[in-house]
Amino acid sequence: MRVEGQARTAIWPAPERDAVFVIDQRLLPHRLAVLRLDTPEAAAAAIRDMAVRGAPLIGATAAWGLALQARTAADDAALRSAAAQLNATRPTAVNLAWALQRMLERLLPLPVGGRAAAAWQEAGRIADEDVACNAAIGTHGAALIVEASQRLKRRVNVLTHCNAGWIATVDWGTALAPVYKARDAGVDLHVWVDETRPRNQGASLTAWELGQEGIAHTVIADNTGGHLMQHGRVDLVIVGCDRVTRRGDVCNKIGTYLKALAAHDNGVPFYVAMPLSTLDRTMADGLREITIEERSPRELTHIAGLGPDGALVEVQLTPATSPALNLGFDVTPARLVTALITERGVVPANETSLEDLR
Ligand code: MRU
Repeated sequence: MRVEGQARTAIWPAPERDAVFVIDQRLLPHRLAVLRLDTPEAAAAAIRDMAVRGAPLIGATAAWGLALQARTAADDAALRSAAAQLNATRPTAVNLAWALQRMLERLLPLPVGGRAAAAWQEAGRIADEDVACNAAIGTHGAALIVEASQRLKRRVNVLTHCNAGWIATVDWGTALAPVYKARDAGVDLHVWVDETRPRNQGASLTAWELGQEGIAHTVIADNTGGHLMQHGRVDLVIVGCDRVTRRGDVCNKIGTYLKALAAHDNGVPFYVAMPLSTLDRTMADGLREITIEERSPRELTHIAGLGPDGALVEVQLTPATSPALNLGFDVTPARLVTALITERGVVPANETSLEDLR
């Protein structure tokens, strides 16, 4: 599915090079609306307020945000300050810092006059590489689904958590790219979609995306996956990631760890789709070193939906006096990960194999 006339699913530049366009994901699945981001501040706000989300997409949005900064002031101080502002929007997904660092490394050695054009080009390159990378993850991951289909000789049931599809990246997605490529290869498959409380990226975004693709899917409450695994109703789990340490510990949307535990207990393969841009070689121990984003308790205490007049409304779920803790991510230790699906192939989640990917 594409916004009409656009080559990419989640983010695309204006031909005039004065803005980028993104889908406002806060309104899905109710409304498909496009946001025009024409300043670094607008890009930062879109990331912070989660109009755009998903590790690769926030990296690409930040890269274009810095390119928008370079249009008006491209001296070192202006670029560094805009990069810091963009980087401060969300702490956990490493793609944000990765993309900004790459932009600065490309731009700062250049004469100031050449930076705006180079910035636009580099942001475009980051986006193009993301698309190619996710397509390759799709090919490698689809082989796992095809293998399951040939072995089981029936419909394959994949479980996924959060949204790591084409609206979480520039295109294709990471965890869902194998699903799309397996579908294209003729595999009969069905996806269990974790609702993914509290922001419901599964129920709102993954379900919408799979619906657009005509892929059989069922939304389940976050607590249902373990039960389904105990009853042989999940053949493999594929999730995305926000930061993976050099030892292979995986940080992803809160609740991923519990799915990995249940998968381990039931002998269900647990795969993580990981673009190399999400690998953080500076960190080893994910539990101790990764900063876990804490978001507003309101995301937990209230739920948004469509009111009778078609406007978005929020209703409160909890007693007004009950405090709530809203942690956005958790860490799944490498020992619970069957393998990482990368653009370079499917590799074990350990230090040696990740070192080999250099
Ligand atoms: O808080 P979000 O919606 O940005 O979290 C997204 C996830 O956890 C995804 O699984 C991850 O970023 C991979 S997206 C390809």
